Amino acid sequence: MFPPFPSYVLGLLLVLGSTTTVIVNGTASHSIPSTLFGLMYESGDGGLYGELLQNRAFQQVQPRTATSLLAWHPVNGAALAVIADPKPLSAALPNSLQLTVPVGTSGQAGVGNEGYWGINVNSSWTYTASFFYRFPSTLPSSHVNAHVSLISASGTVFATQSAPLSLTSSWTQLSLSLKPSHSAPSILNNFTVTVDAASGTTINFALFSLFPPTFKNQKNGMRIDIAEALLELNPSFFRFPGGNNLGQTAAQRWQWNATVGPLTARPGRIGDWGYANTDGLGLLEYLTWIESMGMQNIMAVWSGYSLDTLSLPEDELAPYIEQAREQIEFAIGSTTTKGGALRASLGRPQPFKLDYVEVGNEDFFAANTYPYRWKDFVGNLSAAYPDIRFIATSDAWDPLLNPTPQSYDVHVYQTPSWFIDNAFYYDSFERNGTTYFEGEYAAISTNASDIFGVPADGRLLWSTMESASSEAAFMTGLERNSDIVFAASYAPLLATPNLVTFDAGQVVRSTSYYTQKLFSVNRGEVYLPSTLPAVGGAVAWSVTQKNSPKQFIIKIANAGSEPAALSFLLPSAVKSTGTAQVLTGPKNMSNTIDSPNGIAPQTAHISTGSTTNYTAPAYSVSVLIVSAA
Ligand SMILES: *[C@@H]1O[C@H](CO)[C@@H](O)[C@H](O)[C@H]1NC(C)=O
Ligand SMILES: *[C@@H]1O[C@H](CO)[C@@H](O)[C@H](O)[C@H]1NC(C)=O
Ligand SMILES: *[C@@H]1O[C@H](CO)[C@@H](O)[C@H](O)[C@H]1NC(C)=O
Ligand SMILES: *[C@@H]1O[C@H](CO)[C@@H](O)[C@H](O)[C@H]1NC(C)=O
Ligand SMILES: *[C@@H]1O[C@H](CO)[C@@H](O)[C@H](O)[C@H]1NC(C)=O
Ligand SMILES: *[C@@H]1O[C@H](CO)[C@@H](O)[C@H](O)[C@H]1NC(C)=O
Ligand SMILES: *[C@@H]1O[C@H](CO)[C@@H](O)[C@H](O)[C@H]1NC(C)=O
Ligand SMILES: *[C@@H]1O[C@H](CO)[C@@H](O)[C@H](O)[C@H]1NC(C)=O
Ligand SMILES: *[C@@H]1O[C@H](CO)[C@@H](O)[C@H](O)[C@H]1NC(C)=O
Repeated sequence: MFPPFPSYVLGLLLVLGSTTTVIVNGTASHSIPSTLFGLMYESGDGGLYGELLQNRAFQQVQPRTATSLLAWHPVNGAALAVIADPKPLSAALPNSLQLTVPVGTSGQAGVGNEGYWGINVNSSWTYTASFFYRFPSTLPSSHVNAHVSLISASGTVFATQSAPLSLTSSWTQLSLSLKPSHSAPSILNNFTVTVDAASGTTINFALFSLFPPTFKNQKNGMRIDIAEALLELNPSFFRFPGGNNLGQTAAQRWQWNATVGPLTARPGRIGDWGYANTDGLGLLEYLTWIESMGMQNIMAVWSGYSLDTLSLPEDELAPYIEQAREQIEFAIGSTTTKGGALRASLGRPQPFKLDYVEVGNEDFFAANTYPYRWKDFVGNLSAAYPDIRFIATSDAWDPLLNPTPQSYDVHVYQTPSWFIDNAFYYDSFERNGTTYFEGEYAAISTNASDIFGVPADGRLLWSTMESASSEAAFMTGLERNSDIVFAASYAPLLATPNLVTFDAGQVVRSTSYYTQKLFSVNRGEVYLPSTLPAVGGAVAWSVTQKNSPKQFIIKIANAGSEPAALSFLLPSAVKSTGTAQVLTGPKNMSNTIDSPNGIAPQTAHISTGSTTNYTAPAYSVSVLIVSAA
């Protein structure tokens, strides 16, 4: 239903000049897909995964090099070396840390770990600390006590527990709880394991671990504050394990089977950002956590092409296709399948839900080889799993793929002005059944010629109000086109200058984070067409409707330097009061590690009516909620 707006009313509004009139049509054009806003992930350890110790198991390092001791330090003159253990803890973990207490040492000696740029010592938490040890040569003549502690850089002890080590040359695990007596004032703390001076004693250590409580108390789970910040975004899906994290080279690709089972069976891998990953956050941990967050899986499989730009020839693809099939089978196979049985043996008999599988990552970089890789991967995988929607990662128009992809993943890193200019990006796309996943997007530079350049020019260190409001303009276009755009995720998710920045002790919600949150939390069920914004204009909007109770949800991006007066002519009678959630600030305003709470959305009551007037501040993202009368 559309209420009559006599021409004199429209004329009156138009003569008001600077006010833009937006007529909202009460007949929905399409439903908003339930997957529309979600998250993409391609990070390594030291963030989402809860483990606090860096280089905990000496994975993927060259023994006896300085870098093999990354994050580890001697205590009281102990001699430390990472060795290729002649009797390793497991085939997957060949290295151990050999500690020798020099002859003549008095007091305790041992080893400390600095964590991932610090360790958060919180007196509300009970930590679980563990490690494996063995005496590789002569057993000590009397028992040796180990002391496990959390201490500050200057030596203040927050928690310590002691236990005798068994005098054995076989690997033995010691596990104990640490409860700090008080919280540390800074994150520059260490985890230490020391032994009463047993002058001349040598001990081998392997697979250390220090865990705080995790999100929903999941075993081997996620860091609470980061997971909660992500949950607050109301995300509908999680794209994993990458992204670039799928593989730097074929040999270093992410392999699901190396990430499941006991931690002692996981070799870890050099991730795509150059450092080793424990793979403690493995396929089962991903699936379990994603489900507990209420998200759907968009799971990627490696497709024969890596960041080193090498593609496998077609006649070498078969084993990789089989590995991708097994990866899917582990997630959703019944317990009568090999993968499903393995999953059940690890405590999860019920299959997970998996509707989307992405074939590769940014394979537009290998457009010449994608046709045969796509054909062979999707040909085989869709025969085995006909209900899964396979997502292509090349450009929709080039190369031609067979079978015709049902969906494409589109990526864009650009300037704020690009995002403003491309609020209509999808409007001209053919409506022919093909759907799109805007899988990575962010305004990362104010300088079009250095999108991937160094920060010195335009590259943003932090998302700003300018970048966040321009992304919002683009997102109004995603909502308008959500008949064909079924999912969208900002990228990158974690670290600097990404959606969520963190250090060992805090999480910073960026301006872009709040844009994502405003869009994701305030979703409608259907899209209501409205007067289109000006192409290339700094002000853009989209209107959706929630059905019960009936509400109009109006999102307004103003990525320009002037306030914008708008008048929305709504299609039915509404209540006289509504709310406006507004994120706004100076053009270059950011939340940073040093100033994490500079800017956040504010909610205010506003007068609403069948003509609802609103002035969007310069550099702002606003969501107006207007309830039907
Ligand atoms: C509202 O949308 C419907 C369905 O697309 C269309 O038939 C109608 O003409 C529109 N009304 C106005 C005033 O644009
Ligand atoms: C504690 O960590 C700091 C870095 O934060 C490091 O310089 C120091 O050597 C560490 N000490 C121990 C005993 O691990
Ligand atoms: C300490 O733990 C409590 C309880 O989980 C939490 O509310 C608080 O934010 C934590 N503090 C830090 C600095 O992580
Ligand atoms: C994973 O499976 C592949 C074969 O698909 C095999 O080559 C590799 O060794 C396995 N990795 C582990 C750690 O089991
Ligand atoms: C399955 O993959 C193999 C190996 O690349 C290929 O020869 C075959 O054509 C593929 N099957 C289908 C149905 O696409
Ligand atoms: C739909 O149109 C796009 C763009 O023209 C094209 O790339 C895609 O293959 C088409 N999809 C189908 C199912 O024909
Ligand atoms: C934009 O980046 C280019 C390439 O790095 C640089 O030469 C130019 O000076 C930059 N322009 C501005 C305005 O920073
Ligand atoms: C933001 O811009 C203002 C005015 O140009 C300037 O004074 C301020 O230093 C800038 N702040 C940041 C964080 O760049
Ligand atoms: C919005 O502005 C118009 C024109 O000035 C006015 O008629 C209308 O009552 C205003 N709406 C509200 C809810 O104040």
